[in-house]
Amino acid sequence: MIRKCLFPAAGYGTRFLPATKSMPKEMLPVVNKPLIQYSVEEAIEAGLTNMAIVTGRGKRSMEDHFDVSYELEHQIKGSDKEDHLKGIRTIMDSCTFSYTRQIEMKGLGHAILTGEPLIGDEAFAVVLADDLCLTEGGDGVLAQMVKLYKQFRCSIVAIEEVPMDEVHKYGVIKGEMIRDDIFQINEMVEKPATEDAPSNLAIIGRYILTPDIFDILINTTPGVGGEVQITDALMQQAKEGCVLGYKFKGKRFDCGSIAGFIDATNYCYKTFY
Ligand code: G1P
Repeated sequence: MIRKCLFPAAGYGTRFLPATKSMPKEMLPVVNKPLIQYSVEEAIEAGLTNMAIVTGRGKRSMEDHFDVSYELEHQIKGSDKEDHLKGIRTIMDSCTFSYTRQIEMKGLGHAILTGEPLIGDEAFAVVLADDLCLTEGGDGVLAQMVKLYKQFRCSIVAIEEVPMDEVHKYGVIKGEMIRDDIFQINEMVEKPATEDAPSNLAIIGRYILTPDIFDILINTTPGVGGEVQITDALMQQAKEGCVLGYKFKGKRFDCGSIAGFIDATNYCYKTFY
């Protein structure tokens, strides 16, 4: 079944400058946990055990986060501060981490293709850490999607209704409703102008992809913004076979934007602390 989760995490995080000048945006903490840790926890909860991170220059602190810190651990040994590290220790004991670097920023499709050596020839999940997805009880968003994959065996994207004046920030889909929360996609456009958007169903940063996506990505020409878009590759996959859009249960915070990040922080502080 699905074992591997790819985290494209090489982007610059320009919307958070200067905070992200020398610190990866994935390490920004929502309350006291970095965004990438929330994502890894969601993947573990979905039963995934191999975390594959596509990183870039200046992003080493992510690797250090999921490793032991001998000096620190030695310092706090025996004190109640040790409790703060229990969560991360459990993560390190329940999965493996592998890394590869994206040398040039050529888009999300290119980042996913860069991860191919870590994934190989099997279906896998993709999580964009700056879309923080939370559920209160019940399955996490990725766990919901892994269950769907077991049933449908094709690529799946998480979708959410957004206001029409925000569709230009997302990949947008249109499809035939096959269950009240599942669409078989027949149209997909990356960052359309409001008037060109086929609907207000936006793709959120959670994907299950079948491995034939890599061959499609190799031949995908750069699209919007001059970047290789996963949305364009998925549209090709939808034409040749089937791609589903899944309206997930749960809350999503766009932590790539300051307003979304603040909302997430307030929500997590109230809900979990
Ligand atoms: C990416 C995808 C887009 C998707 C979005 C979700 O865009 O290209 O299709 O809707 O993630 O967060 P980005 O936010 O990286 O520009």
